[in-house]
Amino acid sequence: MHEKITEFSQLLDGGLYKYFDVYFDEYKVLFDSMKYSVENGGKRVRPLLTLLFCDACGGNVKAAIPMATAVEYIHTYSLIHDDLPCMDNDDYRRGKLSNHKVYGEAMALLAGDGLLTAAFERISVWSQAGLYSAEVAVRAVAELSAYAGSRGMIGGQVIDIQNENKPDISFETLQLLDSLKTGALIEAACALGCIVAGADEDKIHAAKIFASKIGLAFQIKDDILDVTSSLEKLGKQTGSDIENGKTTYVTLLGVEKCQQMVDELTSEAMKALECFENNQVLKEYAEYLAKRDY
Ligand code: IPE
Ligand code: IPE
Ligand code: MG
Ligand code: MG
Ligand code: MG
Repeated sequence: MHEKITEFSQLLDGGLYKYFDVYFDEYKVLFDSMKYSVENGGKRVRPLLTLLFCDACGGNVKAAIPMATAVEYIHTYSLIHDDLPCMDNDDYRRGKLSNHKVYGEAMALLAGDGLLTAAFERISVWSQAGLYSAEVAVRAVAELSAYAGSRGMIGGQVIDIQNENKPDISFETLQLLDSLKTGALIEAACALGCIVAGADEDKIHAAKIFASKIGLAFQIKDDILDVTSSLEKLGKQTGSDIENGKTTYVTLLGVEKCQQMVDELTSEAMKALECFENNQVLKEYAEYLAKRDY
């Protein structure tokens, strides 16, 4: 892995864990539960993209840490809720028992709520502390809430639930589903890196195009790994999609055709990076994502 990825991952850890140092003894369990899911195991793809785009735009990567933290908190909340019995009912996540298997369903629900709210707190508090302007913070909140919300990630989760046990779902619906449930937050992650760096609208737009392509590819790869990988490697139960009656690109097209789609989407995504002078690490990272086996 490129040395910048290692450096940025370390920077990120500081931002991710600081929040949990302050808690109330009366209900420390909430903070333990939130921290349990944020800790370890995650690939940190979305927050790393935020930092890489900030860097590619010549911005101060330290100022992007609250943005990256916010994105990872929202992603982690979405996973806690996604694993609940009323959703995908999965017992393992990030190499450990799912949040609700350790803390119970009520606490898992609340830990997700806590992380979602903390995301917007992080962005605004660090603007008040002078790390970036209020204008940057408001733009970031507007983008992140739109892409993570009902017209973005949550909408995708709804389509996903509605399509359980429907083998005849169309490619259009499937693409919308994947673009919303997974692509949308990745779009926000990339856009936020540009925004905090003060990049122009053309760059923000290009970052979103890149993200929409690798976001769709990322979900197709997730569906491939659900069929081809193992709990040990992936840190989550495989065969979950079949068990839940989900129609995916893999059930419709098979693994080989799907890996081709991932590769094609990744090379299309690369084209959107041309307007970034400093795009080498981003290109390497996109390639790594296409080839990942966990
Ligand atoms: C899993 O995301 C859920 C999807 C949206 C595909 P990741 O594969 O990024 O999960 P972590 O963060 O590494 O655990
Ligand atoms: C999860 O998709 C998407 C969100 C959490 C928004 P999946 O249900 O495919 O993710 P995994 O496979 O459980 O990680
Ligand atoms: Mg799901
Ligand atoms: Mg799931
Ligand atoms: Mg999956």
